[in-house]
Amino acid sequence: MSEIITVVAPVNIAVIKYWGKRDEELILPTNDSVSATLDTGVMCAKTSVTARPDFSEDKIWLNGIKESFSNKRLQNCLREIKIRAAQEKSVGEEFLYWKVHICSENNFPTAAGLASSAAGYACLVSALAKLYKLKSDVSSIARLGSGSACRSVYGGFVRWHAGVKPDGSDSVATQVADNSHWPEMHALILVVGESKKKMSSTKGMNITKETSDLLKYRAEQVVPQRTEEICKAIKEKHFAKFAEITMKDSNQFHAVCMDSYPPFVYLTSVSYTIIDLIHNYNDLYREIKVAYTFDAGPNACLYLLKKDVPELLSVINHIFPSSSTAFVRGIETNVKPINADIVSKLTIEPQAKDLIKYVIHTKVGEGPTEVTDGSHLLNDNGSPKCLNII
Ligand code: DP6
Repeated sequence: MSEIITVVAPVNIAVIKYWGKRDEELILPTNDSVSATLDTGVMCAKTSVTARPDFSEDKIWLNGIKESFSNKRLQNCLREIKIRAAQEKSVGEEFLYWKVHICSENNFPTAAGLASSAAGYACLVSALAKLYKLKSDVSSIARLGSGSACRSVYGGFVRWHAGVKPDGSDSVATQVADNSHWPEMHALILVVGESKKKMSSTKGMNITKETSDLLKYRAEQVVPQRTEEICKAIKEKHFAKFAEITMKDSNQFHAVCMDSYPPFVYLTSVSYTIIDLIHNYNDLYREIKVAYTFDAGPNACLYLLKKDVPELLSVINHIFPSSSTAFVRGIETNVKPINADIVSKLTIEPQAKDLIKYVIHTKVGEGPTEVTDGSHLLNDNGSPKCLNII
């Protein structure tokens, strides 16, 4: 019988976007990407795993619901973990034949462009890696679950190297700087919608890869230089440079979606108002104080320095009034009343109520960590402690 291993893993939000695959089966990207890993204290996936000789089949429960284990990406991850364990001789041979039970949950909306698959697969692979006592880097295994998941295997700022080898062995994530390097870097996630996205990332990237000329230009001519520049800006803690590249890269990613045929759009009118507001706010200071970035959904992730959070939140509150009593969640913040001088200089008018559902205040954080307080999601029999009856 094996022990139960429980791990929490972070989401990451890219500042240089991954969009397009050169190999679909191995999930190899057309370009490098860079992201910041966000604090698991605010948003995380949590996964418990165990393996036993008496389990009859591999089983998985996601957010309290039993799911099929026939998912190819899930199977690829488990197979790769076992191959590594056999190579490293990290566990006894019979252990490799035992079936596994996996129970996982997210504490934030899944599939709403909030990087849930990244946290989920990074968590699954990190937990299995601990169960099978692997010593080597597992970012290339997390990559087989979801491309962006390979960046959630590390904390701080992370670069996913596209690699050139056909077998994908050089398509791995490495840390640019750890989470203690730039602790002032905070993030505000403006949740505009929580519904499942219309076009999945996987499907959207396929259409782009097949049809967009701009993607080729982006991957060959734009991203290589941007990646070097943003890694330098991170190392030098040059916020304005970091922010400018982040916004331009988000905009180009969405331009590439529009350049696909048929085109698809993830941003909504609220997303565009957020973009206008951030440019308006930065112009007002004649300095880039805030960056926006959008993944495959309408929710914004704003990167900014801790000192600027209270004022920006007061501006967001003013422009996007809310009837929620828990409008700002996550790291506690004193939202200051808005400064009259700023109000007079903003060119954007306050919008209708509740266009932004809520804001998650978080910061750059650590990679996956093992939970040692015994709060496993599986009980001693290897069944979920909590099931969602629907
Ligand atoms: C827009 O990693 O979800 O968030 O590899 O097909 O699972 P698959 O896609 P996924 O794509 C993420 C795309 C993005 C940009 C990014 O995170 O770099």
